[in-house]
Amino acid sequence: MKKITYKPIPENRQINEVIHQKAYLLGGELRQWEGETTEVYSTISSTKDYAPTLLGSIPTMGEKEALEALGEACSAYDKGQGVWPTMKVKDRIHCMENFVKKMETKREEVVKLLMWEIGKSEPDSYKEFDRTVEYIYDTIEEYKELDRNSAKFQKHDGVYAHIRRGPLGVVLCLGPYNYPLNETFALLIPAIIMGNTTIFKPAKHGVLLITPLMEAFQSCFPKGVVNILFGRGRAVAAPIMQSGKVDVLALIGNSKSANALQEQHPKSNRLRLVLGLEAKNPAVVLPDANLDLSVNECIAGTLSFNGQRCTALKVVYVHQDIKDAFLDKFSKAVDSLPFGNPWDEGVKLTPLPEPGKSDYIQELIDDAMAKGAKILNERGGERFDNYIWPAVLYPVTKDMRVYQEEQFGPVIPVVSFEEISEPLDDMAESNYGQQVSLFGKDVYTLSPLIDTLANLVCRVNLNSSCQRGPDVYPFTGRKDSAQATLSVHDALRSFSIRTFVAFKDNEINNETVEQLLEAKVSNFLSTDYIL
Ligand code: G3H
Repeated sequence: MKKITYKPIPENRQINEVIHQKAYLLGGELRQWEGETTEVYSTISSTKDYAPTLLGSIPTMGEKEALEALGEACSAYDKGQGVWPTMKVKDRIHCMENFVKKMETKREEVVKLLMWEIGKSEPDSYKEFDRTVEYIYDTIEEYKELDRNSAKFQKHDGVYAHIRRGPLGVVLCLGPYNYPLNETFALLIPAIIMGNTTIFKPAKHGVLLITPLMEAFQSCFPKGVVNILFGRGRAVAAPIMQSGKVDVLALIGNSKSANALQEQHPKSNRLRLVLGLEAKNPAVVLPDANLDLSVNECIAGTLSFNGQRCTALKVVYVHQDIKDAFLDKFSKAVDSLPFGNPWDEGVKLTPLPEPGKSDYIQELIDDAMAKGAKILNERGGERFDNYIWPAVLYPVTKDMRVYQEEQFGPVIPVVSFEEISEPLDDMAESNYGQQVSLFGKDVYTLSPLIDTLANLVCRVNLNSSCQRGPDVYPFTGRKDSAQATLSVHDALRSFSIRTFVAFKDNEINNETVEQLLEAKVSNFLSTDYIL
């Protein structure tokens, strides 16, 4: 273990007070938890001699509270008669506008906790917050557009139809630790705005940062629309699923948990799934690739937020002809990345939030080395108390764990190839199908590859690292990587269903519908425009 001297923590980043989160949101009330609690630690040290920092504690909830939350969400949906699912779109939008305005006032608090809880760098933490706020505003605009497009009647074969998108019911939302705010809200916000009622459990790491937003959830939405639970997924999510009363499971995480939860539902045919799962996105570097550009993009792709992104590049295929030059530059670039605490200026690598992560990465390295791989960069595998330096491993073969598993951390497996069919066959065989990064210039080589790759994954990034954003683009995957599509536009569809009023074209019906429209009493049957 190497000793490392951190820079002093600036005053505005120091933890002066721990947060003992007692309140939880159930049925519109911020209730006080009196039961058992779990301490929340950061792997970032506040002292000169390394020690994890206590940030606070959260309630350790169980089945009883989980079922109460479910009861509140069901009552708020009230068999489709609830205030929220029947509310005018305009009014639901108004609630969401109030929420986002309140949320914006909590930027500093949330960003500070993002840094401490998950070790995300300061610029990336601000970006996560701002991107989420922007996502909410964009969702509001998109919903207005959707509503405007529905404010009309169609007529086919003598039948009129007034088609809208309606809510699905009760949604259970579970987000990941790497984007505890953004990815969770990218599920929760469209689910709420479409008229569903929700139960939401923050991720294991990145949980205290939800606490500054609890009051906004409580005050901006009618009772029972948003219920917030704390505790282990197994303890609170399982009983909710077993009840069979959940209509949508919205989860960003891994397929193991998604499958385990899905299987608990007694009638899985009723359950809608909105899932963003694991991936093993490859970079494929062709012989004519621009060296500097591919090295830079592969550094960003493999190591932004220490590789803890579902979209991270998790295996790098380099053509034999360019391999030596690429690996030389790439290894040096990895070793020159600045490591430090999230608020240190220019920092690129930061402490890992999961205490056991370095040991896991070490296991992958040891396994690969036992099977013939070498660490190419000088600092690769260097250990500190809360970090393991990214190792560039080469040559990596299919029997190695680092090839098979989604490492979700700082280690970079490199495979070389002669024929392009090699990475293509591997991708076809892989359990994952999210994205790929393709580096090269020759259009006659690129064209057939693009045509094939687009059928194996859902986003082909040309000379660019993989990423989810901008959030207006579809984010999805094949095989074990996703179910349903998320983007500002698509998420509204994923959390709703088309439902409509139809009537045969005759005098009685036409007169009745005209009166219905004039009376303006139905919130569904309406041709009003939201500007
Ligand atoms: O964890 C996966 C995230 O969706 C990645 O998002 O590509 O914007 O970092 P990003």
